[in-house]
Amino acid sequence: MSSSLSFLATIASPFHHDHSRYPRKATPASTHFSPLASGNASAYDNGGDKESILRLDRRNVLISTLGGLYGAATLGHENTAVASPVQPPDISKCHTAHAGQGAENVQCCPPYTDPSKIVDFKFPPPSMPLRTRKPAHLLDADDLAKYKEAYSRMKALDPSDPWSFEQQAKVHCQYCNGAYDQVGFNVPVQVHFSWIFLPWHRFYLHFHERILGKLIGDETFALPFWNWDSPDGMTMPSIFVNDKTSSLYNKRRDPDNLPPTVLDYQYSLKSSGNPYTDEELKMKNLYEMNKTFKESLPLPELFLGDPVKAGEEPSAGKTMGRLESIHNAMHQFVGTPEAPFRDMGNFYSAGYDPLFYSHHSNVDRMWHIYRQMRGNKVDLNDKDWLNASFLFYDDNRQLVRVKVEDSLNPQKLRYTYEDVELPWADRNIKKKVVKPPSGAKPRSRIALVQVSEFGPDPRPLDSTIRALVQRPKKSRTKSEKDDEVEVLFIDGIEIPHNGPVAFEVYVAAPYGGDFVGPDLGESAGSFLKLPHFHIRSSEDAQTKKFSLKLGISNLLEDIDAEGSEKVVVSLVPKVGEVAIGGIHIDLIKTDWTA
Ligand code: C2O
Repeated sequence: MSSSLSFLATIASPFHHDHSRYPRKATPASTHFSPLASGNASAYDNGGDKESILRLDRRNVLISTLGGLYGAATLGHENTAVASPVQPPDISKCHTAHAGQGAENVQCCPPYTDPSKIVDFKFPPPSMPLRTRKPAHLLDADDLAKYKEAYSRMKALDPSDPWSFEQQAKVHCQYCNGAYDQVGFNVPVQVHFSWIFLPWHRFYLHFHERILGKLIGDETFALPFWNWDSPDGMTMPSIFVNDKTSSLYNKRRDPDNLPPTVLDYQYSLKSSGNPYTDEELKMKNLYEMNKTFKESLPLPELFLGDPVKAGEEPSAGKTMGRLESIHNAMHQFVGTPEAPFRDMGNFYSAGYDPLFYSHHSNVDRMWHIYRQMRGNKVDLNDKDWLNASFLFYDDNRQLVRVKVEDSLNPQKLRYTYEDVELPWADRNIKKKVVKPPSGAKPRSRIALVQVSEFGPDPRPLDSTIRALVQRPKKSRTKSEKDDEVEVLFIDGIEIPHNGPVAFEVYVAAPYGGDFVGPDLGESAGSFLKLPHFHIRSSEDAQTKKFSLKLGISNLLEDIDAEGSEKVVVSLVPKVGEVAIGGIHIDLIKTDWTA
């Protein structure tokens, strides 16, 4: 075993970091970088020599059967406990919001305040045309002209009109920056950091898209998606940046990150000095997306986030989903680099950038693809998720109450996504990433460092923390892995200020005893948080801690560590002040055995 491990530690891959925060420039990956996308085969095509991860072997849910699966999902109702889903806010009690970071006392209440005007949401008639969302970087001239016209008209409306761009943007602030308290609780409404994130944003976009369509009299109007999961889409789409007179333009963006700067899924403020070539970055992103799906397909809480029920705040030991954490990178990448990080870099202002809605169109698409890969099985069979509800002002100038359960099927909301290649779904991505450049020789000596357990006390993450973490079980069999996902927990993440925070997580196999080589190992994911006003007092800082959960079953195979009793987990700080309470690994039953 040690021979294969030492081989691993010598691979000169740009994806193996060393101790320094920004690893030295590694051997260019271009020597082992293969073309990512070829031809125009359907993304959902599992044929040919391109093996896809879009297949859950065990239950025979094949991506090739995805076409007709809508409606196959049935909602179980076995939860008999008293439900306490998050309730819609009382719109008559909106108050000042807070963003921290020099943006205190934000006024973002809506113009409507009469709760008696609310009606329950009804699906659009099935005869409505299906809106097809397309990649923003491939938009044709006609679609672009409509898109610009729609935003021009939205921006020209009186700012007190609920359809106006101003009011549309404020919706995000209302639900994210404490403009409402949860009914009956002294706890703010918050739609990030939990299982609420994806469904809430799906509805937000749905109504936004329909209003834009109404404004140009086009029932087929669809929000283009920023296709950042494809190498060609990994820069800010030019339609948002090239023309300063366009309604899609926003001047509050980071000038350093305009095209051709390539997005980094682990981007956090000030990560200039990125050592990767563009091609390496793109490959790194694809690998990250590959892992995000692979590790969380059997366990939706890893993808969507932890439960938050009525009266709870998502920061109390909760984990945001892995997709949400990645999506924060795009926010930071686009937003201005200094406090208050307008517009995209801060929740209260993010909705003021038209790129926000296109970004979220792709976030939503990722969820849509995730659901398809799981055969459209209900992600989280919990009434407190399915019945969580919110309010939106719709395209009929009506305030409607929506439920998470009604968000699950885009087709019923009458929109879909154009089928485009999913380069990250290639099963061989990992091999491409770790394949040593030709001619690489194993290093003759490796400097080993001793690693100890994390210990009982919280530790500030001001320099890289490396800790030895016991696994519940080593050498797990295929069927054990099918039944339980191995999950790495970073516990008690304490964020004393309200600013942005980012750190990365790496996993490596130790050498024999408690030693590890200089490489941090393989990236297991990262924690990225935008500025967010959740700490209001010093007691708050003690109680409101986040956690992070990352599936590592596949990763351990990738780094040949399945046989190790312990693994070395490295936490690398990137932005902000943060302390860590602990690290542990647990096995969690998949939802796939029903
Ligand atoms: Cu509500 Cu991308 O955030």
